[in-house]
Amino acid sequence: MNNRPRIILDCDPGVDDAFAVVAAARWADLVGITTVAGNVSLACTTNNALRLRDLLGLEVPVHAGAEGPLKGTPVFADHVHGVDGLGGLDLPEPTSGPDSENAIEYLVETTRAEEGLHLVPIGPLTNIALALKADPSLAHRVASITLMGGSTQGLGNVTAGAEFNIYADPEAAEIVFQSDSPLTMIGLNLTHQVQVGAPEISFCQAVDSPVGAAMTHLLEFYADFYRNHLQAETGAMHDPCAVLAVTHPELFTFSPRAVSVETTGTHTRGMTVVDERGNGSDQTPNCAVAYQGEAAAIIDLIKQAIAES
Ligand code: RIB
Ligand code: CA
Repeated sequence: MNNRPRIILDCDPGVDDAFAVVAAARWADLVGITTVAGNVSLACTTNNALRLRDLLGLEVPVHAGAEGPLKGTPVFADHVHGVDGLGGLDLPEPTSGPDSENAIEYLVETTRAEEGLHLVPIGPLTNIALALKADPSLAHRVASITLMGGSTQGLGNVTAGAEFNIYADPEAAEIVFQSDSPLTMIGLNLTHQVQVGAPEISFCQAVDSPVGAAMTHLLEFYADFYRNHLQAETGAMHDPCAVLAVTHPELFTFSPRAVSVETTGTHTRGMTVVDERGNGSDQTPNCAVAYQGEAAAIIDLIKQAIAES
């Protein structure tokens, strides 16, 4: 019997988001997808989620959410993911549009109808924050909010100290971290352990299917980014780690930490401040922070999901 964790994936596809959708479809019971502006505009992230739904033959609703952060203007990452968000991947236009333009209502109502769902946000936290503002009791109805975002040790990728998903909407992130929700943080300190490169590209090239071809294209596009912008031969596969932390938690180690989000710092806006003082801390932990992952096993699960899609 299917006892896979039932999840709602909140995403901003996004190259690595696409791998997270594939992983969620294979390893989770994917209840629904919500989209948010992040890597690219809401119109693009929603169109990409719909096209990925068709590619994978999924029968899950896609609900569009916020088109920008709670405060300020959108910050995009098209230099990483391409102007369309999927590296110019040639997929047909979606066979249908979003099931609604109100992801917030979907999140609130679906978690009321069914307790024990996992929310897995892998983009800016705007939708999740708005859902929590609309109904704070959502925090106590979900099994977890397992998010890709932030980092320990002040590690950043958009600025020296801020990771993109948090930096794109720090106010939303702080609302989520202070919501008393059952939080798990999959930050850069973890995702940087999960590096993909030429071996994974070769693997996808050998998967003789539309999904294999699509994932090959996305990895090759991503490789251009980390080779040309980072002078690196591999790149971190961020978003699937959040999905697999829910479906395969045994592959990760977590520690309880008090985490807060800097929203006003000139140089530190968007930083997740993770209290690692241990017994010396005067703060109550509000989050399980992932510190270690079994990278080879994580990558194998991603590869298996691609091969079996
Ligand atoms: O910092 C990595 C995160 O930002 C990932 O979710 C990636 O898709 C981008 O949204
Ligand atoms: Ca993402």
